[in-house]
This record gives sequence, C-alpha cells and structure tokens, in this order.
Amino acid sequence: MKTQVCIIGGGPSGLLLSQLLHLQGIDTVVLERQSRDYVLGRIRAGVLEHGFAELMREARCGERMDREGEIHEGFFIAHDGRMDRVDLHKYSGGSSVVVYGQTELTRDLYEARDRMQGMVVHDAQDVKLHDIAGSSPWVSYRKGDELVRVDCDFVIGADGFHGVSRKSIPRGVLREYEKLYPFGWLGVLSRTRPVSPELIYARTERGFALCSLRSQVLSRYYIQVPLSDKAEDWSDEAFWAELQRRLPPEVAARLETGPSIEKSIAPLRSFVAEPMRHGSLFLAGDAAHIVPPTGARGLNSAASDIHYLYHAMVGHYRDGDDRGLEGYSAKALARVWKAQRFSWWMTMMLHSFPDSLAYDRKLQDTDLAYLFSSEAAMRSLAENYVGLPF
Ligand code: APR
Ligand code: PHB
Repeated sequence: MKTQVCIIGGGPSGLLLSQLLHLQGIDTVVLERQSRDYVLGRIRAGVLEHGFAELMREARCGERMDREGEIHEGFFIAHDGRMDRVDLHKYSGGSSVVVYGQTELTRDLYEARDRMQGMVVHDAQDVKLHDIAGSSPWVSYRKGDELVRVDCDFVIGADGFHGVSRKSIPRGVLREYEKLYPFGWLGVLSRTRPVSPELIYARTERGFALCSLRSQVLSRYYIQVPLSDKAEDWSDEAFWAELQRRLPPEVAARLETGPSIEKSIAPLRSFVAEPMRHGSLFLAGDAAHIVPPTGARGLNSAASDIHYLYHAMVGHYRDGDDRGLEGYSAKALARVWKAQRFSWWMTMMLHSFPDSLAYDRKLQDTDLAYLFSSEAAMRSLAENYVGLPF
C-alpha cells in the first residue's frame, strides 16, 4: 500500500487528524489494533474544551456534538461542608466547555471516515515502524495471514500510552518524565438522573469524589480509591454509600442510585515523552503524554497536537513550507506542559494523600481559600479549564 500519512491508532487523535487531512486532499491510512466494537465499548471522559469542539466542527464531525452535547458554563467544588461555584463563562471571558462522551465522539469520527471512504484498517496486528529516522519510512502489519507493507511520507504515532510508536524511538533520543499518584479513580456509569446539572468536584477527608454526566439520563461518578482496590470488590451498594459520604448532605440526599452499566478503576498518572518527533515519526495524544483526569485535560491536550500537526502537514503538502513540521515538537510540548501543570495542580489540591503532612493539608485548604477569594486565581483556573489557546 502507499499513502502520504500513515496514522497508527484509531482513537480520537488518529481519527480526527485523518479526517482533517482528508478534507485538505491529503491521503491517510489509519491502522488500529482493535476491532471497532472494542474501541467503541471503552468508556472514557466526557468534557471537551472549546478548541477541541471547534476542531470537530472544522472536521465536519460536530453536528451530533452540537445537538446532543451540553454547554457547561461552570462547575462546583465541594469542600469543607460547602459548595463553591467556578463561573467559567465569567472568568474565561465568555468561554465554556462541552459535555459530550468521548465514546460518542469517536463514533462520530468513525462515521465521518466511512462517509468519505477513509481507509481505516481494524485488527491490524504486529504493527511495526521501519526507517523512521530517514525520509522514506514504512509500516508493516499483519491482518489474519496477510502481511502488509505501507510506504508513506510520514508516520503519526497516535496509538495511546501502550502503543508501539513511542517505543520505536531509540532510547538515547527519548526522555520520559513521569509521576504516579498513590491512588486511582473508581468510575461508575449509571442510567440515572445526574445529581447536579453541573459537575461537582468534591474534596473530603475520606478522599476525592466527582459527579459528572453524559446526558440528563446518564450519570458518571467517580471516587478516589487505593491502588490495591479491585473494581470487582466494589458492589454497587458500597459505591453509592461511599459516594454519598463524600458529598455535601443536601447533594447526597438527592442522589439517584441504580445499577452500574460500567465500573472500572483507572490509576492516576502524569507522563510526558520528549521530543514528540523523531525523523519522519510524529507522536500525538496519549502516545506522548498522559494527565490525571482531574482537570479534564486528557483529550484536550491531544487537541493541540492534532491542530499543530494538521497545519504543519497542510504547510508541507500545499505550500512547500516545512516550518510547521520542524517546530512541531517544541510547540506541542509547550502547551502539553501547561496542561500537565494544571492537572497536577487540580489533583494535588483535591485528593487525600496517604502520607501527607498536616502542613500539606493546610496548603490544600489555603489553595481553595485563595481560589474562592481571588478573581485572579479564578481567572487562572477558568482559562486553563476551558483550554489555553493553541
Ligand atoms: N497498533 C495499532 N493501534 C494501536 C496499537 C498498536 N500497536 N496500540 C494501541 N493502538 C490503538 C488503541 O487500540 C487505541 O484505539 O491506538 C488507539 C489510541 O487511542 P487512545 O488511547 O484513545 O489515545 P488518543 O487517540 O491519543 O486519545 C486521547 O483518549 O485515553 C484517552 O484520556 C485520553 O482523552 C484522551 C484520549
Ligand atoms: C467524566 O465525565 O468522565 C469526567 C469529567 C471531568 C473530569 C474527569 C472525567 O475532570
């Protein structure tokens, strides 16, 4: 096979880039290890920053998101027995976020790729990258008994944290920065009415909790749990009881409970790999960086990578201008690190740390007290939460 851009990974990053490039007449092939059903069965986060929503519209995939997604202009932080609201709209100069499940967004992207007869290969096994240091890279994969070779100009590594692309960069070239947190989030999806029209992030001595939603009939809740816990060991009853204990009494009293549709534990991790380019290989999204979910930055830090890569590829193919490609890694990383800082800060401020000092807890109290007493602090939170400019 021959293509201009070979994209490894059919998650939101890979699909969105493929769709955007196709609209500019640039040919792509997407190689995805899993089946489509498997990809669309994964429950992921659900807050999209303004810039990501714009990219979806530019990719002509924003119609259902605009119809079914909810615009949120604020959220709550529950702490010390009170609920304080963060007015995103007011403090970000009129911006907002869109609450729309990442799983639905991925479905929209697949449908758009189908409509345009985009080439997306599922069940692509043993994907390997070859000659990426030079300017004639190629990718091989196996599908059933067939071994396929794809020749291309560029390879995009959009295959998530466990993918093969980042691992194909020589050890001496790549530098990895990582921070693991000593807890995970136990998440439950349930067909119940959300307890609050806006998200509630709750800090308590029993640990963090988050009330989120997918729609007015579908709720998503999380509680902080030790890393040693297993999702199977948490009955639905135990989950609801613990969530209730972590919410302010008036919120807990109106919590609608029901059977879980999905229940899983995700460990919290911060991770960045530098550089994001090696020869003809460009990393994007979770393949290059991971954030803890606290600031809702996961998909959103992928958005800027896709934006920069999209414009860099258009510069190369349409205008013969390679400055975008040359500057990609530095430009992407500058924004990636800001999303890292923000998610780390939200995580540190709102969770209980097993070995924290009384001093650390006082600082958490002070962080919250400062936030809700300073317009400058609120502005800083709001501009990061709705998404820094690309
Ligand atoms: N070969 C081909 N495909 C692979 C391989 C491989 N060796 N390894 C992984 N993949 C696929 C995965 O099956 C997955 O569908 O790459 C895709 C990567 O998708 P995501 O993990 O969703 O990563 P990304 O598209 O960058 O999206 C980032 O997803 O993980 C969340 O919180 C994260 O919201 C963020 C978003
Ligand atoms: C979610 O709805 O899954 C969600 C929302 C906000 C977060 C993290 C996850 O910060």
